[in-house]
Amino acid sequence: MKPTRPPPSTKTISSLGDRLLSDHRALDALFEALLRDIRRDDPATYQVTWARFEQAFLNHIDAEEVFLLPSFERVDPSEAAAIRQEHATLRHLLADMGVRLELHAVKEDNVKALIETLRYHGRREEASMYRWADELAPDLASSLGDRLSAGRTT
Ligand SMILES: [Fe+2]
Ligand SMILES: [Fe+2]
Repeated sequence: MKPTRPPPSTKTISSLGDRLLSDHRALDALFEALLRDIRRDDPATYQVTWARFEQAFLNHIDAEEVFLLPSFERVDPSEAAAIRQEHATLRHLLADMGVRLELHAVKEDNVKALIETLRYHGRREEASMYRWADELAPDLASSLGDRLSAGRTT
């Protein structure tokens, strides 16, 4: 008996690199919203935006560390180590910002330090690991895509 083929999917499948890139854009938009809320000096609102940003950002870097970095490490160990190091710095800056927001003690400089580190890190990944991302094994790519979707707050 001839095997039957599944019907062609009509779903648009974007590349994994594009998915990751769009996650960076979404995080950036969320951070811009946070900045606006902080400038309005409305703690009730900025705490909510902060919680959304923090959750989405931590989900993003956890997903990279679980599904992407172990394979990328075999391709470019020094770049992978630099990305992991920046994740550690970002986690630290994030924790510090969370405390400052709670205490209503955020300064423009704290926000700038975080946003500059975030953007530098984003550009670094987009120029290296994300260009390679489509080479990731299909099962890992699929798990990473699911994890990114689960972390979307918008
Ligand atoms: Fe990252
Ligand atoms: Fe990233």
